[in-house]
Amino acid sequence: MLIRKASAIALSILLLCIGSTRAEQAPGQAAIASAHPLATRAGHEILAAGGNAFDAAVAVASTLAVVEPYASGVGGGAFFLLHRAKDNYDVMLDARETAPLAATRDMFLNKEGEAIESFSRDGALAAAIPGWPLALEVLAKEYGRKSLKDSMAASIQHARQGFATGERYSKMVGWREEILKRNPAATSIFLQNGTAPAPGFKLIQKDLANTLELIANKGAIAFYRGGLAERMVNEVNSTGGIWSKKDLANYRILQRKPIKAKYKDMQITVASLPSSGGIVLVDSLNMLGNFDLTAAGEVDRIHLVTEVLRRAYRDRAEFLGDSDFVFVPVKQLLHPYYAAGQAAGIRLDKATPSDMFAGVPETAIGADTTHFSIIDKEGNRVSATLSINFPFGSGFVVADTGIVLNNEMDDFAAKAGVPNGYGLIAGRDNPNAVFPGKRMLSSMTPTFLETDNRLAVLGTPGGSRIISMVLLATLDFYNGADANTIVSKPRFHHQFLPDQIIYEKDAFNQDTKLELQLRGHRLAESSRHYGNMQVVIWDKRKNALSAASDPRGEGLAVVLDPAIKSRDDEPRSSK
Ligand code: GLY
Repeated sequence: MLIRKASAIALSILLLCIGSTRAEQAPGQAAIASAHPLATRAGHEILAAGGNAFDAAVAVASTLAVVEPYASGVGGGAFFLLHRAKDNYDVMLDARETAPLAATRDMFLNKEGEAIESFSRDGALAAAIPGWPLALEVLAKEYGRKSLKDSMAASIQHARQGFATGERYSKMVGWREEILKRNPAATSIFLQNGTAPAPGFKLIQKDLANTLELIANKGAIAFYRGGLAERMVNEVNSTGGIWSKKDLANYRILQRKPIKAKYKDMQITVASLPSSGGIVLVDSLNMLGNFDLTAAGEVDRIHLVTEVLRRAYRDRAEFLGDSDFVFVPVKQLLHPYYAAGQAAGIRLDKATPSDMFAGVPETAIGADTTHFSIIDKEGNRVSATLSINFPFGSGFVVADTGIVLNNEMDDFAAKAGVPNGYGLIAGRDNPNAVFPGKRMLSSMTPTFLETDNRLAVLGTPGGSRIISMVLLATLDFYNGADANTIVSKPRFHHQFLPDQIIYEKDAFNQDTKLELQLRGHRLAESSRHYGNMQVVIWDKRKNALSAASDPRGEGLAVVLDPAIKSRDDEPRSSK
């Protein structure tokens, strides 16, 4: 009897354990954070209709292409970091743009050998071969349950019927107005009476609706081969570009192993090359692992974060490029011994001037890109950062297609030591030089973080500052911060060169500034807030989801009640 009672107790304990393991593996709810309410809602609809996180990612990405035409889209690229719960599988879909086959190392230099910014930033020559259309197809076919047609339906409707733009749209158009004016299709779609419209402008994109519909019905092949491909090649080449039909037909999505590393007891899963994000983030965290940040005061913490960023961004310049084309010592850069060596050179009382590092010669900043984070009730996750680079990319819209072409070629280093649009440089050997078919180095850093109790899906746009934003978010998450705190906190950044800490207005008080200056840091207040971070957190102990969208943007984060079925039901915003 006693034995039977004991085994009954043991069985109940076992069942309880199994129950809690199950709860840990699947939240039973879903959450989405994206940079635009219409995109978050499109993802919600697909989940409510039985889709999984990967279908929702197609819906969100496709809608962002319509409602943030300045940030990402058909003519751009992305990294999708995926976690498939059923087999615990992590993968990065590398949908980064590639250099056309006719690209050459010196294509952005003039006869005197000087880099000409406008060549790699404005117009058709700046555009690389897009990865976005094929990425959506791979997501839907290999990971989703829904057809492209179903998942893209909402985006097509928004493009065709139009939507009211917000302040961000007006700002982005204002920023690139002069470039947009050079292209008749861009002028007629995005400007109003030849100038940046005020918020509330109804943006209708009929040509884009037709292009999205073509991809939704016929698949990505309709983009990479046939009539549309021919039209794009002809248009690009008629205005100084160098695309060929072969470039489009050859484009491939590369399914890459993400970088996996530990910070203390936290698991990090993050984008691998050609994103520099994972290597710079993990190298920074490895260095920080040599210090006791919990015991450090605020100024020491800022100083240490700055010093590790300085060293990790220096390595970016010196060593990183597309590893399918150049040798990158990834294993060494990610090794704790390497980080320990770097950390040993950090003085607590003094900044190390960047010109004390050998190798990189010293010789501006902006950005648009977008990010979304999703977790579904089964525990599938998507962290996706998508880009056409500058606001409205190259400013080149292919007539009658609504496709805004990226200017991602500027993410290559036109010449060693010459900063790109984000002030990023490459060292003397220029591992990030232009080469036919090569993928330009990126800073996009889609990330998963996991401790015993909590899991985060996060990322942000912001050019070169993406990686430092993700580093600050990682440290905050590790210290127990909630989603709202992570997206809201004021930020600071250092990228080796220029040798200065850029900070948001409220990041430092007067005493902190003085103390940092006394240690030798140069400070520069950012003229604007930056970043648009999207975070979803699963508290595994409480089995509760939370989500937050950066207050600097216009996004929407929601935790979705599984009972909500129709598009008219308002999801619960946790912003
Ligand atoms: N275009 C911005 C980046 O990929 O880093």
